[in-house]
Amino acid sequence: MSSYLIEGGTPIFGELPIQGAKNSALPILAATVLAPGVSELGHCPRLSDVEHTLAILRTLGCSADQEEDRVRVDAAALCSSAIPDHLMREMRSSVIFLGSVLARTGEAVLSTPGGCEIGLRPIDLHLEALRKLGAEIRTEGPVLRCRAGKLRGCDIQLAFPSVGATENIMLAATAAEGVTRIHNPAREPEICDLQAFLRAMGARVSGAGSSAIEIEGGAPLHGAVHRVFPDRMAAVTYLAAAAAAGGELTVTGVRPHHFAAASEVLREAGCSLRTYADAVTIGRRERLRAVGPVRTMPYPGFPTDAQAVIMSALAAAEGTTIFVENIFENRFRHVGELRRMGAEIRTEGRVAVVSGVERLHGAKVRATDLRGGAALVCAALGAEGTTILSGTELIRRGYEDLAGMLALTGARIKETNEEEKYGKREAKP
Ligand code: EPZ
Repeated sequence: MSSYLIEGGTPIFGELPIQGAKNSALPILAATVLAPGVSELGHCPRLSDVEHTLAILRTLGCSADQEEDRVRVDAAALCSSAIPDHLMREMRSSVIFLGSVLARTGEAVLSTPGGCEIGLRPIDLHLEALRKLGAEIRTEGPVLRCRAGKLRGCDIQLAFPSVGATENIMLAATAAEGVTRIHNPAREPEICDLQAFLRAMGARVSGAGSSAIEIEGGAPLHGAVHRVFPDRMAAVTYLAAAAAAGGELTVTGVRPHHFAAASEVLREAGCSLRTYADAVTIGRRERLRAVGPVRTMPYPGFPTDAQAVIMSALAAAEGTTIFVENIFENRFRHVGELRRMGAEIRTEGRVAVVSGVERLHGAKVRATDLRGGAALVCAALGAEGTTILSGTELIRRGYEDLAGMLALTGARIKETNEEEKYGKREAKP
């Protein structure tokens, strides 16, 4: 199990270029199977989630290779419509292949993606919408068997603006006869990036980012070349690291409006933020102060993926901040680990009450999930003393070399093998 060794208390300074967006790259890679051609992605992040997605593409018969941040997929030889269970289990967001495989082959077989660390992650909205488009979906135990004789466009009203469901409908509707309109779709920026890729493939898709997305099915599709846009959550994570550690940091190659809600909370907490066309500079000299209730909401509201990293910075603020996690039912798992570092946080269901302490202290902690792990890195940078964070393979799912990037800014953080050097972690008290 890989770990980070972090010495807290050193402010960070510098400039960091931001990786391509994980949550754009995954649905766009799934979209490559829509056409029997070659697609090339630039600025594709080097992550374990991307590696898993490329493995699924190869299992389907495609060639899929990544060289640095460039990915090439040739979907001409696609010859399977079944995603093996072990790959579904590794990454539940593989459900995004349902729409594209169904569109390309007329069928899809995959195991229902289990829940994950942050919630049950049901896919009822996905299945209900695909059935409305004409797909027959049978569940045989844990297996979903889907057939789509002829998909027909229709109006779909999403009960909740689910990102994954919106993406699956967009992908499937490219092969439906007629027009599909998605009402109450997710408006996350990643939906707009997927729309840009689909249009580059020749699909007739419009409205991403608005209250209705329209897909006119049946257009002949071909491979496309696309540059993945910047990862807004990686940007927010580095801003939160600077807010926790102090200093001054600029994130470059970003779209500041993609994470305006999170930036606003950091500004309200007392950070100085200067926004440029494709960069944001954050400065923090004085102790942070608590802010009004932080409620996670669908875009453009405060993003659930930023909740943990912002909480870790505010754990040492002056005053009490309330967090309300409206998107996932179990997204406070990092709280227990923050408390091991001296944070005073009480949770009750979807509410966390963060009473700021003067300073956190280093401890042996474990990453609970992708964003929770990143939050513990932020907390450790501002803490007094040494932190050993284990389970950092979870962080590699969504961040390209988080430790290496932060070390460039003067943070005292490095990869280590905890078991060898520091023995097993003592049982939790
Ligand atoms: C995407 O997950 C992101 N993942 C998540 O990022 C992100 O937190 C989430 O959107 C919300 O923005 C990827 O893009 C790969 P949802 P997704 O469908 O599509 C419920 C990260 O850290 N729901 O919008 O799974 C669901 O349980 C990850 O990068 C249903 O009830 O999110 C959740 O409570 C974590 N039925 C809420 O909606 C459904 O059929 C939001 O889910 C679908 C979803």
